[in-house]
Amino acid sequence: MTSQPSLGSYQNLLLPLFLLFCFGGAFFTYYKPSVSWIICSNVPVSTHEVCTDECLKILTANFTQNITALNHTVEKQLQPVTKAAVTDENIILLIWNWPFGFRFDVKACSPQFGIEGCQITDDRSQYDKAHGVMFHHRDIGGDFSGLLNRPRPPYQKWVWMNMESPDNSGRRAEVDNAFNLTSNYRRDSDVWVPYGRLVEVSEKEKTFQIPTKDKIVCWIVSNWNPNFKRVKYFTELSKHIKVEAYGRHFNRYIGSEDYNKILSSCKFYLSFENSIHKDYFTEKLFNPMDVGTVPVVLGPPRENYEEVIPSDSFIHVDDFKSPQELAEHLRYMDQNQEAYERYFTWRQYFTALGSPFGLEHACRSCEHIKNNKAYRVFKNLNKWYWG
Ligand SMILES: *[C@@H]1O[C@H](CO)[C@@H](O)[C@H](O)[C@H]1NC(C)=O
Ligand SMILES: *[C@@H]1O[C@H](CO)[C@@H](O)[C@H](O)[C@H]1NC(C)=O
Ligand SMILES: *[C@@H]1O[C@H](CO)[C@@H](O)[C@H](O)[C@H]1NC(C)=O
Ligand SMILES: *[C@@H]1O[C@H](CO)[C@@H](O)[C@H](O)[C@H]1NC(C)=O
Repeated sequence: MTSQPSLGSYQNLLLPLFLLFCFGGAFFTYYKPSVSWIICSNVPVSTHEVCTDECLKILTANFTQNITALNHTVEKQLQPVTKAAVTDENIILLIWNWPFGFRFDVKACSPQFGIEGCQITDDRSQYDKAHGVMFHHRDIGGDFSGLLNRPRPPYQKWVWMNMESPDNSGRRAEVDNAFNLTSNYRRDSDVWVPYGRLVEVSEKEKTFQIPTKDKIVCWIVSNWNPNFKRVKYFTELSKHIKVEAYGRHFNRYIGSEDYNKILSSCKFYLSFENSIHKDYFTEKLFNPMDVGTVPVVLGPPRENYEEVIPSDSFIHVDDFKSPQELAEHLRYMDQNQEAYERYFTWRQYFTALGSPFGLEHACRSCEHIKNNKAYRVFKNLNKWYWG
């Protein structure tokens, strides 16, 4: 990642951020045939995952209106680019398909990330001029094989974008040898966009207080799959400590208005990922960190987490021999406020931030293309991603 955006610019991003968090949860089971779908304003949402309920509420209520408004704005903004406008300083990135049909403000690269000189468009007639073409893996259509034969301008780079874990995205033979760049949560992608990150806190925002707690450990889950490691772990853990569990499976639905309130009222939150892959830390990690709750993570090994969050800011299930030992630790922490507060040392210096889905990928890809003119081919994408 290059230029760190200023904190202030994120104030307008609350809704997109929230949606990203939702999408993170909502789309991971996308390819499973058992998933049922609800279409909100051409944004398909699985009814499976954790945040879905919140998502749907917002999407159907407020966001539908905003998406509609955005759509018009986008259309107006997407005036054809004249040849003269295409200079070294004006990189065109063509969005081949809106990720999950979700449109974003194509003018936002400068205000949100301080990235200048990027012209984001979805106007396919710009193909022959575009310096980059971004494809969202899930939305690569059936016409892709045909597209591969289409001549490309010699400088044009195709960007493969995906935020779903390999378990939740389908392999596609055609993606090998087609792309030049990858944009993904994986740190070894060309254009790395994590689900969230800790950024330096400004003087003004150094007011963090641990929220009032009335529960020890909580979990919110909608996608209850008995074969998932997280469900097995939860079942064992709850034999030794009371876990306040929410979500459809427990008949304890949480609406969006209560989501943060409940999350922040728990001392610990089970940040259990649905599938375990390197660098795959989702909103399940960054949401609790944002609201002031200590994440108990189940995912890739601790050392991988430590590459993005401080070692003393979270608990890893692997730190304990058994769920029972973890339960004992949580109970100990519940009784020792000073020890518990040490999990928040990082908050003096950092704050947790989500990433605006799609928009950040487009802006950072454009920036990458602008700054890296070198020839590049990504040969074995299938092997890299799915092994
Ligand atoms: C929608 O927006 C209104 C105000 O703009 C707010 O009062 C309401 O809580 C929002 N609804 C949801 C579901 O966020
Ligand atoms: C639309 O988004 C803007 C911020 O971009 C927000 O202030 C406004 O409340 C939203 N409208 C609705 C109906 O939610
Ligand atoms: C957005 O615009 C496209 C084409 O201009 C239209 O087909 C689509 O229905 C619009 N979507 C929404 C949500 O208004
Ligand atoms: C991008 O990758 C394609 C497919 O391998 C290749 O043909 C093309 O020359 C590459 N372009 C650049 C600019 O790296």
